[in-house]
Amino acid sequence: MEQSKENQVYRMVVQLTRPKNILQLFNHCTDNVHALCDYLPDGGHILVCNPIDRHPPCEHSTPKLHTRTGRREDILKELSALGEQYDMVFIDATEENPINYYNLIMSGNMLRMNGVICLQNASTSGQEGIDDEMGFTSRKVTDVIKADARMQQVELAIDCGILVARRIPLSQITDRTKGVVEDGVFQGLKGHGILDRLQLDGKIAYVTGGGQGIGRAFAHALGEAGAKVAIIDLVLEKAEAVAHELYLKGINTVAMAADISQEKDVKRVVDEIVANWGRIDIACNNAGINMNSASEDTTLEEWDKTFNVNLRGLFMCCQAAGRVMLSQGYGKIINTASMASLIVPHPQKQLAYNTTKAGVVKLTQTLGTEWIDRGVRVNCISPGIVDTPLIHSDALKPLVTSWLADIPAGRLAQVTDLQAAVVYLASEASDYMTGHNLVIDGGQSLW
Ligand SMILES: NC(=O)c1ccc[n+]([C@@H]2O[C@H](COP(=O)([O-])OP(=O)(O)OC[C@H]3O[C@@H](n4cnc5c(N)ncnc54)[C@H](O)[C@@H]3O)[C@@H](O)[C@H]2O)c1
Repeated sequence: MEQSKENQVYRMVVQLTRPKNILQLFNHCTDNVHALCDYLPDGGHILVCNPIDRHPPCEHSTPKLHTRTGRREDILKELSALGEQYDMVFIDATEENPINYYNLIMSGNMLRMNGVICLQNASTSGQEGIDDEMGFTSRKVTDVIKADARMQQVELAIDCGILVARRIPLSQITDRTKGVVEDGVFQGLKGHGILDRLQLDGKIAYVTGGGQGIGRAFAHALGEAGAKVAIIDLVLEKAEAVAHELYLKGINTVAMAADISQEKDVKRVVDEIVANWGRIDIACNNAGINMNSASEDTTLEEWDKTFNVNLRGLFMCCQAAGRVMLSQGYGKIINTASMASLIVPHPQKQLAYNTTKAGVVKLTQTLGTEWIDRGVRVNCISPGIVDTPLIHSDALKPLVTSWLADIPAGRLAQVTDLQAAVVYLASEASDYMTGHNLVIDGGQSLW
């Protein structure tokens, strides 16, 4: 079925602004509302408010579509008292009381910051079927919204006119009576609110061991936050597969093969990233291995191999990326340590692994203090037991039940549990943090 231009605009606005909760104050409870529901994320909903006298209640409720029937002003007051907020509100300018709706929404703080109001019938003059009174009401509410310094608007000459207005933070405080402190807390640091400060737009990142498990999740998280990400792995095919996933999400990426225990490989990938992208802002040194053996049986070969990847290799990566970052005067190094740096995980035996991870923490603390005054922050993340291929070995798999008894959270970590931490440590929001070991273990190290 062909859609009206107006509905096409609404759908486009919904797709662009990705609202979670929508409030619909005009009667549009048919295909268009259902179509809008399709764009909402899980947990999102559209609330359609229908007046009793004019419109029948919506007959097509779905988990994402809720309806309320009654005086719209009463419904708005009730919703406001409940503290409800919306990312998008649809109002018809030819309704009886559109200014009342608008005022109730704004005074009740029901439109989230950056939330959008779509005003239908915003310029009705000369339109068929619109009487003078309707035309007057429509002009008045349009003018009120246009004159509101809290809103940024664009008027579209489609059908009977659509005013799309976005709520923006006030750049100037007009009311100083309530003791507003106009500092970085109120206005955001350099004008950037906390979510903006987590953005990594334009940053250049790499992730070692990015071909699977935790590294793959880190690569996705950094890319989603805006960074270009080089995926480095021992196995090129794995790096390529993850790079392809990122590409499908519109993230700039490259796959690189390297054994980070080899100095020439580390130098090569760091040089290549700088040659291609000009700099390195975020170095995620994550590749690591774990070979289990009782200490009395641990061979020097196993010891050396574990140290060569987990500690010597990680040091070479820190040094190579660190040199680039020191010359830039800016950088974020994020090493993957482990809860094994704090406790001795059991019943499995993993002396070499535990010792390397304790070393990663000390290396992180030392570099973190040595380089902070030149703009390079070095931190590490210590995951608890994460459900990745690393713990799916024949030796470790049978131990899951005994581990669970030691985890207050009652479950293993998923790689997604770690993603926010890497974005935080990579972002300017964590600029004052250095040499820190960020433990994410469901409470396991506390028991
Ligand atoms: N899985 C856990 O329970 C857990 C817990 C705490 C810490 N960690 C740490 O997290 C990091 C990632 O672990 P994971 O569970 O995702 O492991 P994983 O084995 O699932 O993935 C590791 C990736 O690193 C790559 N890799 C291995 N050696 C490499 C080398 N020399 N050079 C380049 N790439 C190499 C592998 O090919 C693989 O793709 C490791 O440092 C690990 O010690 C894991």
